[in-house]
Amino acid sequence: MAAGPALTDAARPARLFLALWPDAATRRTLAQARDQWRWEQGSAPRSPAPVRSDKLHLTLHFIGNVDRSRLPALQAGLAVACSAFELAFGRHALWARGIAVLEPLTVPPALLALHGALGDALRGLGLPVEQRPFRPHVTLARHAGHALPPPDASRFSWRPAGYALVESRLDAGGGYHPLTHYPCR
Ligand code: 2AM
Repeated sequence: MAAGPALTDAARPARLFLALWPDAATRRTLAQARDQWRWEQGSAPRSPAPVRSDKLHLTLHFIGNVDRSRLPALQAGLAVACSAFELAFGRHALWARGIAVLEPLTVPPALLALHGALGDALRGLGLPVEQRPFRPHVTLARHAGHALPPPDASRFSWRPAGYALVESRLDAGGGYHPLTHYPCR
């Protein structure tokens, strides 16, 4: 079967998620935290895949593929009230299926309120919302079932300036690209 013509950018759906997007200094600190792990492969068939520094983030909601013509409505509809909060980090964990994560030591009520308000906004826009409980985390690596977390992790805090609607591009290196930043005050 012959391959069809490549989709133009306008025709390709946007793969979207909402996230706390780190500033440059926090990104460096998250990358240092990631680099405190020992990425042992053990007997696993796949090598551990640390997340690239430019892709580190904390997901609020995964949205998935959306027609690009809907982007302006989404960008407007996802502006919700957000009170500023601080995340204290220092707990590393290995989740099921080899996901290495950094979790906040406590979950601020303002983060839960933001997550809830964005869930309501997504439902209002007719978009699906993840049913599983929200477990805030920064993914540090995948396929890391045999990796070893740092025995005494350094602590740091992150006060996000806001949240972002981010596009995950599978082409050209597969980066994450914030489309809109929304402030927390
Ligand atoms: P996580 O790594 O923080 O768990 C962008 O794809 C981000 O959306 C991923 O980093 C992942 O966040 C999150 N995500 C949640 N559900 C997803 C899904 N079904 N497919 C892809 N990404 C998902």
